[in-house]
Amino acid sequence: MKISKNNEISPQKYVEIFYKKMGINSTVKPEHFWRQLTKKFGKIADEFGDCVEAREKGENVNPYILKNSSMEFANAIASQFDSAKIKEIFTWFINQNFDWKEKKIIEIGCDNGILLCLFASIFHESQFIGIDPCEQAILLAKERAKLLDLKNIEFHVSSADKINQEHRNAKFDFILAFTVFHEILGDGFIAKNSTLMNGDDDTFSITDVDKSFNQIIRRDESLVAIKESLTQEGKFISVDRWVDQNQLLKWIRLNEKIGLNFSLTESVILQIKQPDSTVDLLPLSVLSTIEKPPLRACDILSFRSYPTYLQAKALQKISDQVMAELLYESFDKTEFYFHKITYNNGSGTLHTHMGVAQGIGYIYTTTNTNFRELIIIPSALISEKISEVVEARINAESYASVEYKTSINDVFSTLSINIESFDSAPQKINK
Ligand SMILES: C[S@@+](CC[C@H](N)C(=O)[O-])C[C@H]1O[C@@H](n2cnc3c(N)ncnc32)[C@H](O)[C@@H]1O
Repeated sequence: MKISKNNEISPQKYVEIFYKKMGINSTVKPEHFWRQLTKKFGKIADEFGDCVEAREKGENVNPYILKNSSMEFANAIASQFDSAKIKEIFTWFINQNFDWKEKKIIEIGCDNGILLCLFASIFHESQFIGIDPCEQAILLAKERAKLLDLKNIEFHVSSADKINQEHRNAKFDFILAFTVFHEILGDGFIAKNSTLMNGDDDTFSITDVDKSFNQIIRRDESLVAIKESLTQEGKFISVDRWVDQNQLLKWIRLNEKIGLNFSLTESVILQIKQPDSTVDLLPLSVLSTIEKPPLRACDILSFRSYPTYLQAKALQKISDQVMAELLYESFDKTEFYFHKITYNNGSGTLHTHMGVAQGIGYIYTTTNTNFRELIIIPSALISEKISEVVEARINAESYASVEYKTSINDVFSTLSINIESFDSAPQKINK
């Protein structure tokens, strides 16, 4: 069977045929899922549900052994939680038109092998290896490959940090990791108040961030092993649950530190429709050892500010002091508006900077007591926001001394921004 964007069969259709062969069915409404699962599988479904819940609460339990207790059960879980994601990832790969001839591919955290078997079933001339520390998952993955009569795939019980030891320094053209690294790096990396972003005291500095990255790299060798196992042109492709730009930025910076460079033009944010009709946004990052110009924070923000965000006129607030300052300082920016309030009672000075950095609007607020906040908005909304700040200034004037300046020149017209609402903006005043 041949698949491509415009010939006999679409990647989506191919996945559907594959799912049917595997016994992976359509999703059901979330409110019915667990009841139906218990009805069909009894005790194991309840135990698995409890295990997932305990894990969500932060307990150190492993749901993957139960999840992979039988092929039928694993497929029922995959039908509900993984099938849409797998279809989206597979479709993205097909649309890239990568050269898959005689390539070596390894998937880290392959679980019971659905996605890798999907690849192996279509790219017969390439060699696939799947690894996962869960023995039960690997048993099922092997069974799956046998069912499909695949000769170009093998599965091993192993973990990411051991890839170059176990494969005798073999080099891979693609190293894949899908929703695995948030588990490997663990809570210390993911938690909002992780030590990664907070120094030991109330102060903050960029070197604290470096210190914490070094701790993570020392604690887990997986990314180093990946870097050493890539061919010269090889790509490390990861999809993960980085829920906001802080996490995404940390992930990219961590890779850069190891020598894995992020390719902005190839990376995307996948949109995965969930059974409850919500859409999960999963960043897919393409990394390689090929030298790239250093990525600026605003490049990452434009990556994060995917069109849907802009259409939704979404505001994204970065309240983490370090991240806000780091991003703002790295902006290649045009500032339209600066606004400073000195409180009468002498309790502080507040600065608001507003402008556009590479097509993204920003509002950066600082105080002399270490408060920093960065709000990212579509640039088309910047004039609207400035008007709001001008209005707020009028209130502020009653209790504070206010100083501000504007320099719009022809920047708004360059950006095709309607400047009508800005006409009434006052010129610099000192009170
Ligand atoms: C959320 S599941 C994702 C499974 C699959 N990749 C997918 O996208 O559906 C995470 C997987 O990572 C595996 N895993 C956890 N730690 C790992 C490590 N250090 N090295 C490789 N795999 C790991 C788990 O056993 C589990 O199968």
